[in-house]
Amino acid sequence: METPNNSSTQPATPDTSSLAHSGSSTPRSDIEFPFPFVPVRADTPKDEYILVTGGLGYIGSHTTLELLKAGYNVVLIDNLSNSYICVLDRIRVLVQQHYSNHSEENHVPILEFRQIDYGDVGALRRILDQYQTATRKPWVGSDGPKYSKIMGVIHFAAYKSPTESIRMPLPYYSNNLACFVGLLETLGDYGIKTFVFSSSATVYGAMMNESNEPIKEEHCVHEDELFTDGDGRIKLTQQGCRGLTSPYGRTKWMCEAILSDLIISDPDWTVVALRYFNPVGCDPSGLLGEDPLGLPNNLMPVVCKVLRSELPALKIYGTDYNTNDGTGVRDFIHVTDLAMGHLAAIAAATTNCLYTRFRSFNLGSGLGHSVLELVEAMEQVSMREIKLQLTDRRSGDVAISIAQPTRAEKELNWRTQRSLLDSCRDSWNFLTRNPLGYRNPES
Ligand code: UD1
Repeated sequence: METPNNSSTQPATPDTSSLAHSGSSTPRSDIEFPFPFVPVRADTPKDEYILVTGGLGYIGSHTTLELLKAGYNVVLIDNLSNSYICVLDRIRVLVQQHYSNHSEENHVPILEFRQIDYGDVGALRRILDQYQTATRKPWVGSDGPKYSKIMGVIHFAAYKSPTESIRMPLPYYSNNLACFVGLLETLGDYGIKTFVFSSSATVYGAMMNESNEPIKEEHCVHEDELFTDGDGRIKLTQQGCRGLTSPYGRTKWMCEAILSDLIISDPDWTVVALRYFNPVGCDPSGLLGEDPLGLPNNLMPVVCKVLRSELPALKIYGTDYNTNDGTGVRDFIHVTDLAMGHLAAIAAATTNCLYTRFRSFNLGSGLGHSVLELVEAMEQVSMREIKLQLTDRRSGDVAISIAQPTRAEKELNWRTQRSLLDSCRDSWNFLTRNPLGYRNPES
């Protein structure tokens, strides 16, 4: 069943439902683009690279694939702590397939992989040393000017479970924050100052519960900001955050704040913070998907475990929310749409097409679907029943979380193209093609 638009929680404005469900790639005519066009295809010298940290994880692997398909060379680093090495081969297979189907494109980009922990500064420096060149960005250091072939970084590597972070905060602060500062220092040393950060809607904290409409970037800022709210009134947002529900959430907010401080102190930095809503789905090939190590917390991986009979039932955390059916409502976004958001961000950042040198963007569809609607959509595509166990609310959960995606539409020329049903179909395809996930001995 296609979850009907009228059963989803709709934003006051804009109504992106037709876009989210049409698969159309035609830009909307009513959007005023402040910049001529942000190129999604790489138009860069063949010897420049994007550095992707955590590039074998769920979102990292999909983004790496789309970067390569768009013509970017990629240096991928990953410590394999929550990912599988077979993902690398699968990306290569998909890239090869793409370029054999597009023989007119004569530049097949390069994918280089180094297995390191991004927090290992020595190992990172050894890699960055290999990408120095005499012809690019200046590096001011005691050894004289140096340049890097790495034109920008997309940083995914981080721990990502809010629940786990409550049990063990220090590893989260150590990995997500302390290592992050080391990464920025190192990149700065090499003159690599274009940075796209994996942030999260979690930075909105308690504001999610207080707002009756989709949440805007202006609700969480790092410098005081005046903006026009949905009710047409001019409001002041003071820098800071309220009601963050986990150490994980705090690390995301703090990383954003650090990046915001950095661009004030050093005008050479350009930073984009992408605030993800709820990524689901996977590449339609069924070769890439989501397969977290250990017990998953997020909805879709748990649903998949139930469909694989690895769990007896899906626990529904709360049926008494003030929503259509009482279950939580989320802005589910297909991971390929999310990946394309990174391409739009890196293109804007590397071509100086950002309003400000630190710019945050919501990556969401602007549409909400309930937990039960996602379950129904998965039942429809799999033609199987998903056993449910109704339980109490999960602590730290919000009732409704929906993006106001207008800023990314206007400034990055990006919007979602795929529906919740598309996501469910693709997830089910991955599930049927990989009954054991990436642990399949043949993978
Ligand atoms: C969570 C994080 C968010 C993070 C995102 C992706 C919180 C408060 N937020 O979002 O910061 O960026 O994951 O990692 O933790 N649900 C069930 N049963 C389950 C699992 C989930 O009913 O077994 C429900 C939840 O109660 C929620 C919805 O499904 O209503 C989505 O949950 P989940 O996938 O964990 O994402 P979020 O909590 O929205």
